[in-house]
Amino acid sequence: MTLIPAPRGLRAGPNAPVHGGLLAPVAPRPLAVPLRAAQGSSSSDVPTDALTAVTGENAGRKIWDVRYDISDADRDQVRGWRRPLRVAVSGAAGQIANHLLFQLASGEVFGPDQPLILQLLGSERSVGALEGVTMELEDSLYPLLREVQIGIDPLEVFRGADWALLIGARPRGPGMERADLLDINGSIFVKQGQALDAVASPDCKVLVVGNPCNTNALICMENAPSLPRENFHALTRLDENRSKVQLALKAERHYNSVSRAIIWGNHSTTQVPDFVNARIGARSALEVLAESGSFKGNVAAAQAWCEDVFVPRVSTRGGALIKKWGRSSAASTSVSVCDAIRSLVTPTPRGDVFSSAVCTDNNPWGIEEGLVFSMPCVSSGDGRYRVVGPGDPDCPIEINDWLRNKIGESQDELMSERECTAHLIPNSRWAASCTLRGGNDTWVEGDA
Ligand code: LMR
Repeated sequence: MTLIPAPRGLRAGPNAPVHGGLLAPVAPRPLAVPLRAAQGSSSSDVPTDALTAVTGENAGRKIWDVRYDISDADRDQVRGWRRPLRVAVSGAAGQIANHLLFQLASGEVFGPDQPLILQLLGSERSVGALEGVTMELEDSLYPLLREVQIGIDPLEVFRGADWALLIGARPRGPGMERADLLDINGSIFVKQGQALDAVASPDCKVLVVGNPCNTNALICMENAPSLPRENFHALTRLDENRSKVQLALKAERHYNSVSRAIIWGNHSTTQVPDFVNARIGARSALEVLAESGSFKGNVAAAQAWCEDVFVPRVSTRGGALIKKWGRSSAASTSVSVCDAIRSLVTPTPRGDVFSSAVCTDNNPWGIEEGLVFSMPCVSSGDGRYRVVGPGDPDCPIEINDWLRNKIGESQDELMSERECTAHLIPNSRWAASCTLRGGNDTWVEGDA
């Protein structure tokens, strides 16, 4: 839908109309300091004047834009705040977002000095729910939340986004082949990639959650050539968290003591939860497991448990949750999105890594280039990261034959997914042939 610029100057009332294009009001506590005066602010489009509503109509759709007087709030509260960050979220009316948006607005992810503008993308049929979530955000009185925009056109909603959290994707229906869903969801990510390319901040960080998230992230990245390729991530932090808790439970330790729980590859059943390099405390997880009450010193039994129970348990956890809930995981996915962002905006503790599926161009592990593949990363806390390679003195990682084979299988799956979606990738070098069929339940649905 094309958004027609709204006429300006009308006041918002409680019945002010909302349209599918933009801007619902959220004035948690009307903020005191003009945003332009906030530290490091570069936004020229942020409101600084008295409450002003803008209404209009376009093809039966209404437009609502509310701005707040922020000249009389407590200066102490906002002193030192950074410039507002624009965070776009797709699938914003879905279950994951219904957790995530509140975690973001609370300040627990980007920090207590980081005001946010949430830009929420939904679909035509979810506009009512978007308004509902906006009302709930408004009622939550988050001081850091400066504005909420809602819309159904990514070209509007992604405008100026510093971060894009792409959750929305179509769930798989009965009888649908994996290749069909790759195609349907891939088309969504073509459009969203193009929109990010056109209107997002030039350094926008993109985290894809909607499944199949690795290939969706690849399609999005390839359709957003002006954004840095290293800025695209697909979520495997959920798998890392699942891996940590399973190792901790079996070793009778707390999950806080588990580190280097790397996830390699695709967010699918071919993912490789790496117990070989995982640590519990200062020691190899395998050694600690072997000494635990479960294995009583039997290293071979501990290793067999890791290969035969731990790995499938982690890689099929999403499907197991769907069977329990009747829908896919939402709260834990949201928590892991927060963890994934936090890992990029805070320095990684020395000797540890976090997992994120990122572009394999020039990767240090010899993985096929031009994929989005989960690998061990460290960040200096500025939103950037590097992939940890072999021989890293702070975090030595060993690839044994078992890992090499499993990583190869996940790589092959992602190469097949890339072939199936070659028609969605501009100037693709890969054959547009698709051999994937529905047989293996390698991933399951995301949020609509
Ligand atoms: C999960 O892992 O829980 C989600 O990605 C849902 C799924 O497809 O497994």
